[in-house]
Amino acid sequence: MIAIHVLNGPNLNLLGRREPDVYGRATLADIEADLRARAEAEGVALVFLQSNEEGALVTAVQEAGLAGAGVVLNAGAYTHTSIALRDAIAGSGARVVEVHLSNVHARESFRHRSLIAPVCLGVIAGFGAESYLLGFDACLSAMRRVAGAPARQ
Ligand code: DQA
Repeated sequence: MIAIHVLNGPNLNLLGRREPDVYGRATLADIEADLRARAEAEGVALVFLQSNEEGALVTAVQEAGLAGAGVVLNAGAYTHTSIALRDAIAGSGARVVEVHLSNVHARESFRHRSLIAPVCLGVIAGFGAESYLLGFDACLSAMRRVAGAPARQ
């Protein structure tokens, strides 16, 4: 069974109350519920995790990569700063789709650079909570391609 780990970085536990004009009103629990429904419909095992700690995210990426699971990663601010996360992706061989709720390229210049994008399959940004579903679908297609199965059933 294909497994996809959806990993969330710092401050994403505050979704719903955090700068709603930028990030929307959906909570992380709302996002998880939508993903669980999608995963169940697609027959995918979903792991969902949020941490404010860089090291915990590094460990979670390593575990997913070494287990052969796909990853949908919203690394929050660590996107722009974490060489450790980049190395965890590259080192574990994790297949990662980077996602962001906001369009980081339309925001402050320090958000324009992602240290993890070069080792990810691709990046989805700017679609609010839907970015996660788009990221899940992209990750699942990539995993099915690798497994030799049809992209959509
Ligand atoms: C974010 C964008 C990051 O720049 C920011 O630090 C976040 C959230 C997003 O989902 O839009 O915490 O990853």
